[in-house]
Amino acid sequence: MSILEVHGVSRRFGGLQALSDVSFSVPQGQIVGLIGPNGAGKTTFFSTLVGLIRPDKGSIRLDGESVVGLKPHKVAHRGMTKTFQNVALFGESSVLDNVLTAGLLRHDVDAAREEALKCLDRVGLRAIAHQQAGLLSFPERARVELARALCTGPKVLLLDEVMAALNPVEMQEVMDLIRSLRDDGITLLVVEHHMRAIMTICDRVLVLNFGKLLADGTPQQVANDPQVVEAYLGKSMEKRA
Ligand SMILES: Nc1ncnc2c1ncn2[C@@H]1O[C@H](COP(=O)(O)OP(=O)(O)OP(=O)(O)O)[C@@H](O)[C@H]1O
Ligand SMILES: [Mg+2]
Repeated sequence: MSILEVHGVSRRFGGLQALSDVSFSVPQGQIVGLIGPNGAGKTTFFSTLVGLIRPDKGSIRLDGESVVGLKPHKVAHRGMTKTFQNVALFGESSVLDNVLTAGLLRHDVDAAREEALKCLDRVGLRAIAHQQAGLLSFPERARVELARALCTGPKVLLLDEVMAALNPVEMQEVMDLIRSLRDDGITLLVVEHHMRAIMTICDRVLVLNFGKLLADGTPQQVANDPQVVEAYLGKSMEKRA
């Protein structure tokens, strides 16, 4: 059985069909890339999966059970959560408290603190656990966001551009982290514009264009698909590489 099964998901915003009949399923433990031009519907799709946006049509099954219509914290409790492309932390609070609050979904405060420290360790931020979150750099805030998502104990983790603004060393660290999460049995869907990262870490790549699934295959198949090159890759491959 697939850990995630999506069938016929559509969502309209006024006159804009943001998602159009999106279907695919993901076996447990895969790293799946989700790519496509700006405005293709990637973030909208992630938001729909985790219950922030309700689909007009379609089904979403996590580990065999429907999650459509559930609130985000319920979906997270079932085991699927996402990071936010525009990270919004509690700026006045410590890094640790920002992560700890996510852990309260499954744990009492003491256990959530333990778990939060483990997650901060995992993303390489243990040393700054007691700093004020509002003072962090953008790449650090993106890592806190990742630790927050991890602290909910996900089976399926959706990462929305967590590598944006990272330098090559930091990017490599996040790529290693993604692989190690998969080795722990977590299934990952990864939205990124960094094609080199996508091509390196993903078992499979989905391409969205104008809300429609344009391609679904291995990184190699997708990179050589003329429709994908036309819609996305051809335009500025150099810039993204
Ligand atoms: N809440 C909303 N209300 C109305 N339109 C929206 C809403 N959210 C997204 N859209 C529109 O839906 C389309 C898809 O946006 P989305 O943010 O999902 O794209 P994306 O693929 O994540 O783009 P990017 O690569 O720039 O992050 C865009 O045209 C966007 O303006
Ligand atoms: Mg987006």
